[in-house]
Amino acid sequence: MPTVVREIVEQASTDPTFEDDFAPLVSEGKKAVGAFEQSLANFLGNLYGCPDAPPYSGPTMEEAHAGMAITQQEYDDFVALIAGVLGDNGVPNDTINTCFAPPLLALARVGHARGSRALAPRPTPARSNPQ
Ligand code: HEM
Repeated sequence: MPTVVREIVEQASTDPTFEDDFAPLVSEGKKAVGAFEQSLANFLGNLYGCPDAPPYSGPTMEEAHAGMAITQQEYDDFVALIAGVLGDNGVPNDTINTCFAPPLLALARVGHARGSRALAPRPTPARSNPQ
């Protein structure tokens, strides 16, 4: 997870589609980027129910992305970027399509159903769901 998240942030912050949004974070320096990576790793770990992921304690998706006016296209491109990084790190395509993509794409749909221009609210960690 840490390697994958580092690559996601490296690629996102140098990709023309996302770099403007990531520039303020990158300008805060390595420590801030490191804290963001840890937080994103926790978020994704909780989303996928990884038992050893510490609980995500960052802002809600709406708060984290407020003012970025992320479009559906940018969101989909971001999910594709993450899928590319997973593929580069040896995750088989089938696993990406059936296990990785659905929860993230569902997050976006929730956000849109609620009329939010930002992203969906923080997901409930899978492992703390009753049943
Ligand atoms: C798969 C969809 C996405 C997920 C799961 C996601 C997840 C997150 C999380 C958990 C945070 C908060 C971390 C924290 O501050 O503790 C965050 C912040 C952020 N996201 Fe996303 N994100 C997604 C899509 C995007 C897209 C499409 C963009 C850009 C176009 C983006 C840009 C950012 C930036 C720049 C921040 C950090 C702002 C800051 O702290 O200065 N995200 N994201």
